[in-house]
Amino acid sequence: MQTDQKKALYEEAQKELISITEGETNVPALMATVSCVLSQKFDYYFWTGFYNVDPEKENELVVGPYQGTLGCLRIPFGRGVCGAAASTRETQVVADVHAFPGHIACDSRTNSEIVVPVINADGQLIAVLDVDSVEHNSFDETDRIALETLMQRIFAQ
Ligand code: SME
Repeated sequence: MQTDQKKALYEEAQKELISITEGETNVPALMATVSCVLSQKFDYYFWTGFYNVDPEKENELVVGPYQGTLGCLRIPFGRGVCGAAASTRETQVVADVHAFPGHIACDSRTNSEIVVPVINADGQLIAVLDVDSVEHNSFDETDRIALETLMQRIFAQ
């Protein structure tokens, strides 16, 4: 997809999500709404959803609201792309998941992905947003900046 087109869609998605979620503080409701709006908006989003930091298990992610095919239930910090984003608190943009050490193949059709840490207003990591695509190299700086901004606007204010 052309960068201009991507940027326009992200602007639309952000506007819609800010308006729909205004005044809502329930985290599962916010996550379900973000997953739904993003997955409907972008044709190249194959799996769109959240892995939450499990409050009962140290350093483990557990699947949250998502849109797509069956996702793995649990991912330890440090494992795969989601685990790397959780342990480093840095967005991971992966052009070819099969070349990523420890990648967890929940669905073998996935070829590229982006995983963005979700940090709340207290600066705590609460989840990661995971978006997978069946194409190679689907995600770039435009996706990274837009999704990081969106996570901040929805979960840290
Ligand atoms: N791709 C992820 C696993 C989660 S699923 O793809 C839904 C990873 O390696 O972190």
